[in-house]
Amino acid sequence: MRVRNKYRKSTAFPCNVGSRCSISIVVWSLVGFLLMLQIYSLISHRNTVSGDVKLHMSRHPLVRELEQVEEENIQIPPPKGKRSPRAAKRRPKRTTTLVDEFLDENSQIRHVFFPDMKTAIDPLKDAGNDSFYYYPARIWLDTEGNPIQAHGGGMIYDERSSAYYWYGEYKDGPTYHAHKKGAARVDIIGVGCYSSKDLWTWKNEGIVLTAEELNETHDLHKSNVLERPKVIYNENTGKYVMWMHIDDANYTKAAVGIAVSDYPTGPFDYLGSQRPHGYESRDMTVFKDDDGVAYLIYSSEENSELHIGPLTKDYLDVKPDMRRILVGQHREAPALFKYRGTYYMITSGCTGWAPNEALAHAADSIMGPWETMGNPCIGGNKMFRLATFFAQSTFVIPLPGIPGSYIFMADRWNPADLSDSRYVWLPLIVGGPADRPFEFNFGFPLWPRVSIYWHRKWRLPSSWRVTK
Ligand code: DGJ
Repeated sequence: MRVRNKYRKSTAFPCNVGSRCSISIVVWSLVGFLLMLQIYSLISHRNTVSGDVKLHMSRHPLVRELEQVEEENIQIPPPKGKRSPRAAKRRPKRTTTLVDEFLDENSQIRHVFFPDMKTAIDPLKDAGNDSFYYYPARIWLDTEGNPIQAHGGGMIYDERSSAYYWYGEYKDGPTYHAHKKGAARVDIIGVGCYSSKDLWTWKNEGIVLTAEELNETHDLHKSNVLERPKVIYNENTGKYVMWMHIDDANYTKAAVGIAVSDYPTGPFDYLGSQRPHGYESRDMTVFKDDDGVAYLIYSSEENSELHIGPLTKDYLDVKPDMRRILVGQHREAPALFKYRGTYYMITSGCTGWAPNEALAHAADSIMGPWETMGNPCIGGNKMFRLATFFAQSTFVIPLPGIPGSYIFMADRWNPADLSDSRYVWLPLIVGGPADRPFEFNFGFPLWPRVSIYWHRKWRLPSSWRVTK
């Protein structure tokens, strides 16, 4: 006998047959709609991966040229020892990849990654039809005819002198290994500074923060590490403030250093170093928001996550507030920018001097949460995209007057000779639908896509150039 359980609630809606039917129509329509969105997301994601950018074309006429997709078809030479067919039969080797070739300093195609001095960009000589062209990875000469030394760099536009200042690691010394298993290194020489009105012709302003030759206990002693210097201007104090990664040769100190100057061209006074918020800090950057509040962003906890927190009003210290972001994602080389109220960041993976895949991230609030969008690289070939064009992010320069357009600054490190590391500058455009949205939001693009376009040769739109 079945006894009615008077405590059990009915699972059916308290309505008649007709309304139950219309509810199921609504539910199934919703399911169908979500399915369509998923399919749309998948298609747009596949298009992105295959390099088809039709969906992502920005409407701004000035940037169309920058968004053209340039392919690379580099022939990998046959692996050594496999040239004779008999040898090939005897011991088949795994095929060499472009990354293997890139890392092989004796590669036959070395000149593709590190073009020689004959192809150097010399803004004083390349005037006329050739002017303003960026050639990623070619040697870039300053106005005195010397290769620019500003690695892991950053940029400010100084309203007072109407000029750009590019700061970076001055690495013009011998590369060596401090320990058998240690990373390739160059002794600290200092922070180089270059000025320009057009972002192409660079005058060497000298070493604005110099190494310490004698005092071995000093952070800036040449045997230590100084990387990724970034400068911001403080309107409250009228000072230029430099933040940088300070470490020992084994990267165990994991700290940030702070220096200050009255002028963009230095000299900068070194104030000391700290572990921000009490945590390890390796690759880092600083970002100054529109409201004047500046933030420090650094890789921490063995590079497994990034930390972000505001600086004090004078930019000389961090405030106690800190958030962990991209936790467990193992990212470094952060470069931040902001467009229409949204914060964006490009990061690299953690593989020493070897190139790896870049990712773009976005957030509505700078303190997070930050979402990972995907690989922003377009063009070249698959390997180029998976290796960030054989370079690593360091900074993103806003281009006032061309909304949503930026220059992506990256370093093509040369671990065999770090002083000969190259600069890869490419157009970065924000626009079009997001490329990997469905994990978080059922196909609704939360943020526009961030795209970095490969070009062997490119320049800024002419309207931008004339005004500078
Ligand atoms: C990767 C970092 O991004 C660089 O700044 C440098 O610290 C190298 N690692 C050292 O291997």
